[in-house]
Amino acid sequence: MCGIIGYSGHRPAVPLIIEGLHRLEYRGYDSSGVCFVQNKELKVVRAEGKLKLLEDKLARMEVSLATTGMGHTRWATHGAPTEDNAHPHRSSRGDLAIVHNGIIENYQECKAELLAKGFEFSSQTDTEVLANLIADEHSSETSLLKAFASALERARGAYAVALLSRQEPDTVYAARQSAPLLLGLGSGENFIASDIPAFLPYTRDVVFLEDGEIARITPTSWEVFSLADLKPMEKKISRIEWDLQAAQKGGYKHFMLKEIFEQPMTISDCAAGRVSMSRFEAHLPELEAIAKPSRLRIVACGTSYHAGIWAQILFENWARIPTTVEIASEFRYRNALLSPGETLLVVSQSGETADTLAALRIAKERGSPILGICNVIGSSISREADAIIFTQAGPEISVASTKAMTAQMTVLMLMAMHWSKNGGSLNRDEARLILNGLSDLPAKLSGILPTLKSEAATLAARFASSKGMFFLGRGQSYPLALEGALKVKELSYIHAEGYASGEMKHGPIALIDQDFPSFVLLPNDDLFAKTRSNMEEVAARKGPVIALTNPPKSGLDIKGCETWLMPEAFGPLNSFLMLPALQLFSYEAAAYLGKDVDQPRNLAKSVTVE
Ligand code: F6R
Repeated sequence: MCGIIGYSGHRPAVPLIIEGLHRLEYRGYDSSGVCFVQNKELKVVRAEGKLKLLEDKLARMEVSLATTGMGHTRWATHGAPTEDNAHPHRSSRGDLAIVHNGIIENYQECKAELLAKGFEFSSQTDTEVLANLIADEHSSETSLLKAFASALERARGAYAVALLSRQEPDTVYAARQSAPLLLGLGSGENFIASDIPAFLPYTRDVVFLEDGEIARITPTSWEVFSLADLKPMEKKISRIEWDLQAAQKGGYKHFMLKEIFEQPMTISDCAAGRVSMSRFEAHLPELEAIAKPSRLRIVACGTSYHAGIWAQILFENWARIPTTVEIASEFRYRNALLSPGETLLVVSQSGETADTLAALRIAKERGSPILGICNVIGSSISREADAIIFTQAGPEISVASTKAMTAQMTVLMLMAMHWSKNGGSLNRDEARLILNGLSDLPAKLSGILPTLKSEAATLAARFASSKGMFFLGRGQSYPLALEGALKVKELSYIHAEGYASGEMKHGPIALIDQDFPSFVLLPNDDLFAKTRSNMEEVAARKGPVIALTNPPKSGLDIKGCETWLMPEAFGPLNSFLMLPALQLFSYEAAAYLGKDVDQPRNLAKSVTVE
């Protein structure tokens, strides 16, 4: 996501901050900005686009006297990637500015209160609301630390935020809640940043902030307080031994692994502001102005297409919307019939996939309403769709898509719930189980990821040299099977097929022998017994079977079958635990075979050609 750096020290702050922002570029961004106090004035300089454009602006200014400041690279979540929406954001009372990563969920409520008190807004961001909240608290509170803490108590959501004020020109404040932020400790200088590379050339001594903590740095001091009562906290100083490249990956060996491990946060970021736990409802503000479609046609490519198939069942079962799913490159050339009132839903991580974009344009020409699900703000699909829902997953750098699919599934599930309120068949009890399960899911997934990784490594060492493999599933596990096979193919170059388990006996079963393993997705759901029978058919032909399943369940003592156990989740939520297991298997298989995990051969991250 976005990048933050704050500096208080003895060197010229602005060039150091710009350099730090360059080291955070790998996180992806679409605008940037810095702020500093010089000659007792708080200056904010921002630019749309690449850092070079910000540097060009700064080159025309005298900035060398400031020795404290902060900078930000923004990856848009609320509001377009324009200069007005770029950070830092200043309070309309002028004396302070903040940079912020994350989402303030109740920003609309807070904004209404602040407007009533005469605050003004010049951007569409939630961040500007937080800046004004701090200024509002500061008008009745003499200490900026207390005002900052009180404003954060009023804000709900996930954030990493840094604050600079004209009145305390040598001090940077910072706080975090569910978004990374840390301090870098130097000699006569201190840093705050969202990620270690930002300050790694200057210091390797870091203090990791925890949720509910607030920090203050000056050139010669650093302190951490508890947000709740402002009591000082004892913090451990850690020494970073990684090099810069490893640090950009947050200590993970590959971006793919980092992104797989980010998925618990992806789920919570994606659901933030979209569910009501008191009414057990999903509510997507982006769909407010849109009538429930009479029919839905989902069009996408690759992994995004698999997310579409996964959601088809939910749109039909919960929302009672007849739904079809198509590969974009097929849809665009077959003169497809779209019935009146049928809505085209395009799903794309990048928002630039040529075939998906072409499908959107064709359907638009024919007068169909177009809805988009996309991860990249400002992308072509996000601009051309009639309404767009962002997945808020943060930039995905590894070529193989992982967290984007989890985010797409989260959004699609919430859309189906949203439309189920109007003539759907999802009852309140089920909705409660789903939403409670969804809020438990990040912790559940975080808890199992390390074990899944080591189990995946063991399986990869055993099966990565097979001549081929199957991934089998029914219902919502079928698209996961397709995805598991796609990941193995693209990363390890092993031939893998994703198949509907019931379809195996119509031909593909001929491939089965003792060197052809099958991974069977077997959640403890209504289709368990059916899929289990298909497993027996494979095992009877001496094919090794690995069943991804939930304990406890009898009936799995099939000769030649072994189990890979996942904790149980409610209904479709099982998929959010099984998908990372499949991703980890493909990751480990590729690593075992020595393949280039983040840049597989012949592939590009954004497929902008046919
Ligand atoms: C697979 C993968 C691709 C993309 C596909 C669509 O790991 O990344 O299959 O899912 O190229 O891309 P988007 O979602 O950007 O439209």
